[in-house]
Amino acid sequence: MLNKEHIQNKLTQVIYPGFTKNIMDFGFVKEVTVKENTVSIRLDIPSAAPEIEAQLREEIMKRVSFLGDFQIDISITKPKMPRETSSHGKNVLPKIQNFIMVSSGKGGVGKSTTTVNLAIALAQQGKRVGLLDADIYGPNIPRMMGIEDKQPVFLGKTIKPILAHNVKVMSIGSLVERGASLIWKGAMVTQAIEQMLEDIDWGSLDVLLFDMPPGTGDAQLALAQSLPVTSGVCVTTPQKVALDDTIRSMDMFTQLHIPIAGIVENMSGFICPDSGKEYDIFGKGTTQPLADAYHTEVLGEIPIEPAIREGGDSGLPITVLAPNCETSKRYQNIAAKLWEKLLEVNEEGGVNNEKIQPTIF
Ligand SMILES: Nc1ncnc2c1ncn2[C@@H]1O[C@H](COP(=O)(O)OP(=O)(O)OP(=O)(O)O)[C@@H](O)[C@H]1O
Ligand SMILES: [Mg+2]
Repeated sequence: MLNKEHIQNKLTQVIYPGFTKNIMDFGFVKEVTVKENTVSIRLDIPSAAPEIEAQLREEIMKRVSFLGDFQIDISITKPKMPRETSSHGKNVLPKIQNFIMVSSGKGGVGKSTTTVNLAIALAQQGKRVGLLDADIYGPNIPRMMGIEDKQPVFLGKTIKPILAHNVKVMSIGSLVERGASLIWKGAMVTQAIEQMLEDIDWGSLDVLLFDMPPGTGDAQLALAQSLPVTSGVCVTTPQKVALDDTIRSMDMFTQLHIPIAGIVENMSGFICPDSGKEYDIFGKGTTQPLADAYHTEVLGEIPIEPAIREGGDSGLPITVLAPNCETSKRYQNIAAKLWEKLLEVNEEGGVNNEKIQPTIF
């Protein structure tokens, strides 16, 4: 007699497209029922791309029908398709569903570290993720992802991103001559970013994260004009002087009509490994009032932790090296909240921060 376990067993053979893990292990199968001559399978997947649904249906049909002759009903819940145009009516990357811009008003607060770990966490949750290092002035992503020795492959005019920790990575820094970008100004930055966006062959992705240079400059503007940026994430450290700069970053998102997903408070407290005692080196919990003022939330607090820095230096980020440690769990939580925010923005069909009054920018 055919039962639920037989079906579930077969579903463990269905690999989620683009990954090596199956749909059962990802937790995408929400319900399996067997009634008389009908098998019903209900899935909830993170991709809005029609080709993923089509591939899954075909593969499930193939595997399950192997068990006998019965009716198979497959229902698949997917995120809503996002809005299609940017503030300038363009979307130069229509095969990518969501774009996240990670910014900070101040340099060195941990933008790149946060972007890398969130990209990996999202991929661990079954999202097809790309990461573009748009910091033309100081690209750090190749080192942090452990691919600094790898050269991107050119296929005619297009460039293939490099796969690292299940994330497709490209750095604008790998594409320009060392030092050349330092003298770039306004229109050149805009042109370079647009050109590179078009030349990189990402394939289809659920989400592309942008690690931005610090501040609120031409690169941010160029992106917002070329792509419908789904959400902005602001990274800050807790001390007051950093928060002043963060306000500028939040105002920038507001002015560019980018919905703000929230703030990541990085270097938030330090737990001494010897004594277990917590020290507030830069302070802690200072970003909440700022989040309130911008009708958004603190997505999470990441402590100062030597393993985070070591992970960045060695190309093995903490989410890869120690996926079950407390800090990795925090990155996982932030990634999950961020994803919820993307779904929400797409559901609402766009921007909802008109009520915010820009303060400085
Ligand atoms: N929570 C943390 N604990 C310990 N070290 C950290 C943490 N976050 C970041 N770092 C370290 O701080 C340094 C700066 O981080 P990172 O390069 O991510 O900042 P950034 O904001 O991207 O800088 P830039 O403005 O130059 O692009 C790096 O050496 C990184 O490893
Ligand atoms: Mg950086």
